[in-house]
Amino acid sequence: MSVKRFGVSLQESTLRRLDRLVKEKQFPNRSQAIRFLIEKNVVEQKWEDNREVAGAIVLVYDHHKRNLSERSVNAQHEHHKLILSVQHVHLDHDNCLETIAVKGKAKELTRLADRLIGMKGIKHGELLMTETG
Ligand code: NI
Repeated sequence: MSVKRFGVSLQESTLRRLDRLVKEKQFPNRSQAIRFLIEKNVVEQKWEDNREVAGAIVLVYDHHKRNLSERSVNAQHEHHKLILSVQHVHLDHDNCLETIAVKGKAKELTRLADRLIGMKGIKHGELLMTETG
């Protein structure tokens, strides 16, 4: 892929924000930071437009909670076509960390994530929204 150069005019305060981002996110240079921001916007747009996207649903829960594992697995089976893989880690005696890699229409993935994250007994849940590349 060829790289094109172009000039960017920014207010001093905006440039300072960009440089702060470069430092915080450990980007090698400003170009990489700008590329990151553009791609982030592209991904957000794909999710808003209900395009084919990918993501990861992360769940933390106590497996002793009544039926939670079973209810979660049932919901996952109902949407098996959206699920690429499931990684289950036993964090300690009580807590489990589950990472569910998903791919499909943005709205379907959001609905599945909301259903799993909203289940009674889930301590923490997040949907990480990314793209298929
Ligand atoms: Ni476990």
